Amino acid sequence: MTVYLDNAATTLIKPRSVIRASSGAMSALGSPGRGGHKYAMAAAETAFSCREAAAKLFNVDDVEKVVFTFNATHGLNIVIKTLAKPGDRVIVSGYEHNAVMRPLYEIGADVAVVRSRLFDAEEITENLKKELESGAKLVVWNHVSNVFGFVQPIDEIAAICRDASVPLIIDASQSAGTVKLDFKALGADFIAMPGHKGLYGPQGSGLLLCGRMIKPLISGGTGSNSAEYAMPDFLPDAAEAGTHNMPGIAGLLEGIKFVSRHGPENILFHEKRLIRELAAGLKRIKGVTVYDIVDNERMSGVLSFTIDGMESERAGQELARRGIAVRAGLHCAPEAHKTAGTFPVGTVRASVSVFNTRQEVMYTVKAVEEICRSR
Ligand code: ALA
Repeated sequence: MTVYLDNAATTLIKPRSVIRASSGAMSALGSPGRGGHKYAMAAAETAFSCREAAAKLFNVDDVEKVVFTFNATHGLNIVIKTLAKPGDRVIVSGYEHNAVMRPLYEIGADVAVVRSRLFDAEEITENLKKELESGAKLVVWNHVSNVFGFVQPIDEIAAICRDASVPLIIDASQSAGTVKLDFKALGADFIAMPGHKGLYGPQGSGLLLCGRMIKPLISGGTGSNSAEYAMPDFLPDAAEAGTHNMPGIAGLLEGIKFVSRHGPENILFHEKRLIRELAAGLKRIKGVTVYDIVDNERMSGVLSFTIDGMESERAGQELARRGIAVRAGLHCAPEAHKTAGTFPVGTVRASVSVFNTRQEVMYTVKAVEEICRSR
């Protein structure tokens, strides 16, 4: 039996429509905006349809505000480098990924991390308000923790930032496709997300929703304003220099259609049910510590746990030997582990998708039981 429980890294099992569209794109799609022939036109139509489907799913009022990126990290780099300068005070949550922390460090921003008790949404909003009293140029906030699946109170966070007139960037890496994400209602300046996780697209695809203009991260051909050496000053072109990843975009379009058809709330419901069962099963095993979230509204399809007396990486290897794919360690998110008190040892993380089953969860519980027994 092979059980894939590393969907927070990438959803390996994709809908068949995604695979068909991605592989078909390699021989059917040219480069959008780079010609009037049928292959370039077909690519332009696919790219437009993908922007349109994303705009609909995330309530974006203009398709041109939907920018293609290669992953969430790419989008976060574009917008963090647009909005933050050396020495700027930037407030972040206690659950950030290195996709946020490293660009901020590289810029030389003065980063303030909002600490709070683990999974305490109320304290998070209170502490953000307190941090904002000292002023900030920017807030960057993780929507759902890639380590714990904790759903942050993003509506409240966005309202606090709006009231304080501080720009907000949301990292929706783990929420896009499952947890409600309404761009217009949030009023965030930018939302970055991968295409290859909850949207079931291929790796190398991602989206950036833009509430304002960006500063180009890279410059080059855009198929527009070609007589000028300056980059176009309009979206999406300003953010999309170079040839598009059309196999990625074609697959992502089908992934977004798949998610829209099933309904993000139904996918989340399924994932939460599996995680609840997994948590309940693991909690019955002596020597296993489970970082589960009691509040139903704050949990999603990710669960972290540790096994007493066993390094997380070793536990991950033991599970791999039994055909179960999880991710162990720090998950590129040391801040989240510092918040949980699991730094630097890390945790074992199981993350589910719409394709996981109850049977797989039970098999995983049995495997952990066996690993604990044979320690
Ligand atoms: N950020 C991804 C993860 O959590 C890759 O595994």
